Amino acid sequence: ATATSGSFTWRAPSNIALVKYWGKRGEQLPANPSVSFTLDACATTTTLRYKKREYPDDDFGFELYLDGAVKDSFKPKINDFFHRIGKYMPFLKHYHFTIETSNSFPHSSGIASSASGMSALALCLMSLEQEISGNITEEDFFRKASFIARLGSGSACRSIRGELVVWGSHPEIAGSTDLYGVAYPGKVHPVFRTYQDTILLVDRGEKQVSSTAGHGLMHGHPFAERRFAQASENLSALQQVLETGDTEAFIAIVEREALTLHAMMMTGKPYFILMSPATLDVIRKIWSFRKETGVPVCFTLDAGANVHVLYPESEKEAVMEFINNELVAYCEKGHYICDRIGGGAVAL
Ligand code: PMV
Repeated sequence: ATATSGSFTWRAPSNIALVKYWGKRGEQLPANPSVSFTLDACATTTTLRYKKREYPDDDFGFELYLDGAVKDSFKPKINDFFHRIGKYMPFLKHYHFTIETSNSFPHSSGIASSASGMSALALCLMSLEQEISGNITEEDFFRKASFIARLGSGSACRSIRGELVVWGSHPEIAGSTDLYGVAYPGKVHPVFRTYQDTILLVDRGEKQVSSTAGHGLMHGHPFAERRFAQASENLSALQQVLETGDTEAFIAIVEREALTLHAMMMTGKPYFILMSPATLDVIRKIWSFRKETGVPVCFTLDAGANVHVLYPESEKEAVMEFINNELVAYCEKGHYICDRIGGGAVAL
């Protein structure tokens, strides 16, 4: 191996699920298939500096910087990640790493950086593997990057490529697998190819439940098996919707998925309410705006209180006016992020 020292930089986006991944088994494998829009503006940029060690010791060697400042609090998470991926990347212990990372979105905004962060790091590690072994095809490169990212954070495997990504094996979706995310292979109507996502930061507080604990609540959850089957059914139904551009049917699936994710948490043992009063107010406002104007705007949620407002690009002016007039009041410090469907990670 000639790779003695150097660096790689990748910018990887966040993603927002339409059909949600909630519940896992085994080595970070999903209990049900999911599909997401890859985002564009919300992203993590990571530089991995590597230097060959003369005597690889037992522990992984690395330092971490967030926005230029040492970030030791992230170390255990990255150390666990290295342990998990070590058998797939045996070269790791031969190097000392400096990992420099920064996010395009504000810290403690309640936007999870794990998907974009783990995906950016996985891509940097793949670039090093490529440098060492030299003969990885582009397809294998991105496939393994997604596989490795999955071991860091499940949903991170959907943050490698654009624009719609499926993770989890589904009988009707060619190439789909539990092991990594694949570009959605079906036809996608133009309306969905430029979809907008304005993220309302209604609650910037710390997450009440970590996603690891949240997934754990699906073990022994009374509705788990039915929910896992429903996710597959919703993914089946979404295929035709994506092809025909039926925004009304899209809304019905996406909003129900978001509320089902929260319903699972509200009915777990223990149970949690992750919406805030502002989340509910925003949802009601979106519903009445849609009813009054006929504009096909809808919401989706992650495992928190922030609201993703999804709508076609052609409705941008009307929706932004609505957001600025009626929804900004619910955002902490009036903060929201304008994002849209994106093309996936890029090497810088
Ligand atoms: O990737 P994790 O373990 O943080 O899980 C996140 C799951 C949701 O964001 C709530 C849903 C999804 O499919 O992205």
